[in-house]
Amino acid sequence: MTTDFFKGKKIVITAGPTYEKIDPVRFIGNYSTGRMGYAIAEELANLEANVILVSGPTALKIEHENIQVHHVESALEMYHKCIEVFSDCNLAIMSAAVADYRPEHYHDVKIKKNEEVLTINLIKNPDILYTLGHAKKAGQLVIGFALETHNEIENAREKLRRKNADAIVLNSLNDPGAGFKHDTNKISIILEKGTIFEFPLKDKHAVAKDILNCIAENLA
Ligand code: C5P
Repeated sequence: MTTDFFKGKKIVITAGPTYEKIDPVRFIGNYSTGRMGYAIAEELANLEANVILVSGPTALKIEHENIQVHHVESALEMYHKCIEVFSDCNLAIMSAAVADYRPEHYHDVKIKKNEEVLTINLIKNPDILYTLGHAKKAGQLVIGFALETHNEIENAREKLRRKNADAIVLNSLNDPGAGFKHDTNKISIILEKGTIFEFPLKDKHAVAKDILNCIAENLA
């Protein structure tokens, strides 16, 4: 069933962290490795989907005839690329750990350590998942991720509603082996109609297969 559902579909996936520049040598980032998003991209490409991978800075390499990779650095660059490609996509899977804020001003010369306290004002980045969720038309699906430390299901449900997603893949930071910096992940999938599917700890390629099966079986 999964095989047929994704074949020939155009799918945009975000993966990895974003880097928000402070000055020519410094940035604000996070620990995301991109492994979950890259695993989903590869599984989809093997199912003959036409994948557009919008990747933040990561050490990962991917080469597949069904994957077009666009390397971006900041949340704003990721946002613009996603907006550009989304209108004729069937599906968007937003697995990137997008920085919520960026420095208000970029210093074009390196900041000197003259002050005892340095203040950097941060301003909010656009929410890509929210934007695509509210732009989607009939026939388009938008899937998000959530990494929560408390009230996990409740927070993920609220995210699903607010961002108008069709499903949220929840990873808990409380589960050993799940989330950033691991080859494994433990997820639950929350669907728009309220159903929750829970999965055991698995390697990220097996998790990617579970996510795709769940989409094909429940959202097709
Ligand atoms: O609100 P929160 O960051 O917890 O939501 C996580 C989900 O939203 C993930 O799917 C992430 O890729 C997406 N997101 C986004 N743009 C942002 C922030 C989060 O697409 N600026």
